[in-house]
Amino acid sequence: MVIERNIGYIMVTANGGMNQQRVAVCNAVVLARLLNSTLVVPRFLYSSVWKDVSQFSDIYQEDHFINYMTPDIHIVKELPDNLQSLDLEAIGSVVTDADINKEAMPRFYLKNILPILIKNKVVHFLGFGNRLAFDPLSFELQRLRCRCNFHALRFVPKIQETGALLLQRLRQKEGYAGPLDKHLVGSYAESTMKEKKARSTKAAKYLSVHLRFEIDMVAHSLCQFGGGKEEKEELEAYRAVHFPALSLLQKTTKLPSPEDLRSEGLCPLTPEEAVLMLAALGFKRKTKIFVAGSQIYGGNKRLTALTSLYPNLVTKEKLLSTTELEPFMNFSSQLAALDFIGCTASDAFAMTDSGSQLSSLVSGYRIYYGGGRMPTIRPNKRRLASIFSRNNTIEWRIFEIRVRKAVRQTKHVLTRPRGRSVYRYPRCKECMCWTG
Ligand SMILES: *[C@@H]1O[C@H](CO)[C@@H](O)[C@H](O)[C@H]1NC(C)=O
Ligand SMILES: *[C@@H]1O[C@H](CO)[C@@H](O)[C@H](O)[C@H]1NC(C)=O
Ligand SMILES: *[C@@H]1O[C@H](CO)[C@@H](O)[C@H](O)[C@H]1NC(C)=O
Repeated sequence: MVIERNIGYIMVTANGGMNQQRVAVCNAVVLARLLNSTLVVPRFLYSSVWKDVSQFSDIYQEDHFINYMTPDIHIVKELPDNLQSLDLEAIGSVVTDADINKEAMPRFYLKNILPILIKNKVVHFLGFGNRLAFDPLSFELQRLRCRCNFHALRFVPKIQETGALLLQRLRQKEGYAGPLDKHLVGSYAESTMKEKKARSTKAAKYLSVHLRFEIDMVAHSLCQFGGGKEEKEELEAYRAVHFPALSLLQKTTKLPSPEDLRSEGLCPLTPEEAVLMLAALGFKRKTKIFVAGSQIYGGNKRLTALTSLYPNLVTKEKLLSTTELEPFMNFSSQLAALDFIGCTASDAFAMTDSGSQLSSLVSGYRIYYGGGRMPTIRPNKRRLASIFSRNNTIEWRIFEIRVRKAVRQTKHVLTRPRGRSVYRYPRCKECMCWTG
């Protein structure tokens, strides 16, 4: 049911990394429908943090996106010529994130954005990070989010092909496709299926872990990670450059101490803590572990600490050759797509930070396509912190019991709680039809 009346054109230039951009794209689809407007294929903002010039068509199959969404909204590749010459800034058609609250309600857009569209025929959203509410939203609009995220966004062949190679090496087996593979790597999953000797050996199972421990998050947390003076100075310098407001606040206000933050569970889990958690959950030394999130603060030194406990721990950099990775270098979003594929297809997925967008999207994808057989491991950071910060020596057996209580290991597919993300909790009537 394509709309007949076209009020205007919606442009979006999404900020953040690949996963934030994915959310922005699907929210923009909803907005185009809400405002009876045509969507211009979204653009991605170049940022000094992500340093990636990739555009929509470098990550996703553009024609598939347009065709798949066509029954619901019109999408065009470019703004019509007569609108291209407009100075959008000057006519008041540029809307930044400072103009919109996080998770703004549809009525905000009807009241504030619709008049601009009617007057100027075009609105350009700059940033658009998480700017549309999850509830209340009409059935029809919520459903569009689901169609967009789970069906319309397919990775381009370049990413699919290398993603398929990554999965093949993780499982140490050719000619096998996991239950989610075809949704992630398309026909490359089938082409490996057709190879000979398909059922001669069993595919190796693997656990994927998203270690959210990049410097931006580490610095922003205001926590300490046992690196002493050097670490403190390095993080302070990083904050001064990248989070000047926070840096200033630190000097002028009394903020919670690193110890308080830690005991409140507000500090990111270090890679070492993540590994201890996995050991306590019973993952054996020989477990194959795929670690996503390559720019770990502390770098290889920290990763080496992990491989001593889990020698079969690998990253995409380890599994793919320099030649295979070369076409992706300098494109952090395309590299993030490979991590997304590696995590989503895994036999079990563990996150260290439930607030991360990658973990959220991966969990949702595993729910949507996993048929209730794709477990996700999610720690309660506050409880874990209290276990880790105990001074007195604690017996391993007791440690195990406590950690297991602090971690949710579940295949159970929760119904979406009100107000929560459809991308993270797709089990709702607008998204997954089944209720079992
Ligand atoms: C969009 O179109 C529908 C159906 O024609 C109509 O009910 C709705 O009021 C329109 N919305 C706007 C913002 O024009
Ligand atoms: C990545 O960017 C750096 C600096 O801009 C450049 O020197 C290097 O050649 C690029 N690498 C690839 C593989 O394009
Ligand atoms: C750890 O031990 C020190 C010295 O015994 C004590 O001051 C501190 O409060 C203890 N911390 C915790 C979290 O138990």
